[in-house]
Amino acid sequence: AEMTDEERAFQERIDRGEKIEPTDWMPEGYRKTLIRQIGQHAHSEIVGQLPEGNWITRAPTLERKAILLAKVQDEAGHGLYLYCAAETLGVSRDELIELLHAGKMKYSSIFNYPTLTWADIGAVGWLVDGAAIMNQVPLQRTSFGPYSRAMIRICKEESFHQRQGYDIMMKMAKGSEAQRRMAQDALNRFWYPSLMMFGPSDKDSVHSAQSMAWKIKINTNDELRQKFVDQTVPQAEYLGLTVPDENLRWNEEKGGYDFSEPDWSEFFEVLKGNGPCNRERMEARVTAWEDGAWVRDGLMAHADKRVAARTA
Ligand code: 3HC
Repeated sequence: AEMTDEERAFQERIDRGEKIEPTDWMPEGYRKTLIRQIGQHAHSEIVGQLPEGNWITRAPTLERKAILLAKVQDEAGHGLYLYCAAETLGVSRDELIELLHAGKMKYSSIFNYPTLTWADIGAVGWLVDGAAIMNQVPLQRTSFGPYSRAMIRICKEESFHQRQGYDIMMKMAKGSEAQRRMAQDALNRFWYPSLMMFGPSDKDSVHSAQSMAWKIKINTNDELRQKFVDQTVPQAEYLGLTVPDENLRWNEEKGGYDFSEPDWSEFFEVLKGNGPCNRERMEARVTAWEDGAWVRDGLMAHADKRVAARTA
C-alpha cells in the first residue's frame, strides 16, 4: 500500500539513522513490532534465569556459586531494563507478563532445554550468552532510542557472562577424562539449540524484511548464525572438543564454515510449547508471580502512603 506523508517522513528519519523516541510519531506497526520484540526479549531474560538458577545451590565451589549468582542477578536486571523500554511504548509490565503466562507471548526457545550437569552451565555461558551477544551487539544501533540504550547497558555485562562460561568449559575440557566427557556432552546437547536462538532461516522469517526496513533488526537471522558458527568453532577446537556436525568444514571462497542447519521441526515444536521444559518453565514463572503478589501489593501500598503523606 502507498505510504502516507507521515509514514514517508518517518521512513526518511529511519534511513538517516535518527533515533526514534517514545513521544515521536511512529507507525502502529513499528510500535507493535517493538512491543513484541522487546517484550519477548525481556521474557527471555527472566525465564533464562531458571536453567542457571537450578545450579546455584549445586555449584562445585563457593567462587563458582558467587559468579553464577552474579550472572543470574544480572539477567533479572536485563529484564528490568527491557520491560522499562517496552513501557515507553504504552504497555505495562503486568500486561506483558499476563500475555506470557497466557501463552500469547514467547521467550527464547533455548530456555526450554534442561541443564543436566555442571558442564551445561559452562555451555550456557559460552554458547547461549555467546549467541545472545552476537544478536545484541548490533541491536545497540536499533532505531528505537530506549531499546538501543538498554542494549548498550546490557552488552557491557554480557562479556563477563560468556567468559565465565568459557572458563568453566576450559577447566573441564582440560580436566579429568570424566570432566572432558561431560564438557563434550554439554556441547553436543547445546550446539543446535544455540543455533536456533537466531530464529528460523531467512526464507522462513516472517518479520525480517519489515524489521530491517525499520532498523529494528540490523542483520538477518542467517547472517548472525553464520557469524556465531565462525567465531565458536575455533573456540571448540581450542578446548579440544568436537562440534556435533559431520558436515562442518571451512569454505575458503565463502570465508566461513559450511554447517548443518538445526532440525527446524524441533524448533517449531519447541515454539508450540512441546520442548523438554516448556511446561516446567511456565509453571515456575506463574508460581513465582503469584507467590510474589503480596510483595508487589505491599510495595504499592507503601508508595501510595508516601505519596499521600507528601501531598497531605
Ligand atoms: N525462540 C522463540 N521464538 C523465536 C525464536 C527463538 N529462538 N526465533 C524466532 N522466534 C519467533 C519470533 O518471535 C516470531 O514469532 P512471533 O511473531 O510470535 O514473535 C517467529 O519466530 C518468526 O521469527 P522471525 O525471525 O520472523 O522473528 P523476529 O524478526 O522477531 O526475529 C529474533 C527473531 C532474532 C529472536 C528477534 O526477535 C530478536 O532479535 N529479538 C531480540 C533478541 C532476543 O530476544 N534474544 C533472546 C536471546 S536470550 C537472552 O537475551 C538472554 C541472554 O542474556 C542469555
